[in-house]
Amino acid sequence: MKIKSAEIIISAVKEEQYPQDDLPEIALAGRSNVGKSSLINLLVNRRKLARTSSSPGKTQTINFYEINKQFRFVDLPGYGYAKVAKASKKQWGKMMDTYLNNRKNLIDVFQLVDIRHAPTQQDKHMYSWIKHFGFNGIVIATKLDKIKRGQRQKQLNIIRKELCMESEDILLPVSSDTREGKEELWQFITEIFKV
Ligand code: GTP
Ligand code: MG
Repeated sequence: MKIKSAEIIISAVKEEQYPQDDLPEIALAGRSNVGKSSLINLLVNRRKLARTSSSPGKTQTINFYEINKQFRFVDLPGYGYAKVAKASKKQWGKMMDTYLNNRKNLIDVFQLVDIRHAPTQQDKHMYSWIKHFGFNGIVIATKLDKIKRGQRQKQLNIIRKELCMESEDILLPVSSDTREGKEELWQFITEIFKV
């Protein structure tokens, strides 16, 4: 896809702040530090559109990025960051529930997992929620550049098995560093919009 424009519309914490129109949205879910914000930058060829950080818990709000004035990527705050205080975990839960359960614009949720690690309990919960609600169930295995080529298949098999993915479910390895997997991912995104 040719990116003509990519801009942040709002960092929202409340439903009233969400954009009020009917542009379709694809949300990115996954653990803190898995690479959600980096993936948005990769997809739109912008190094600093979405803020990233080497310490987990960077994205704390629901960030709406509008692409070509046609659709939005929605960067969700990550889960599983142990150091977050109880009160903010509760707030995170409410914020995620509100967006994921009520948002009419939402047409798909991509689940991101780190290719180096087996999915966590929270990853499994998230993925079963995604499938339960009838989304495509696309999983993106991030940080592909961090493992040796010979280890790829083994890691992908672990992810498939642990998330109970079906054989037709898509698991796509991507690196925001080397850009490997980017074009393949865009193909799936374009197909989602065609339906
Ligand atoms: P939260 O906002 O905390 O939920 O994290 P996030 O999922 O948005 O992660 P973010 O994109 O901020 O990336 C976390 C760290 O991982 C940063 O230091 C990134 O540079 C690094 N990172 C992300 N993707 C990749 C990748 O594909 N390869 C490598 N080597 N590093 C990556
Ligand atoms: Mg982030």
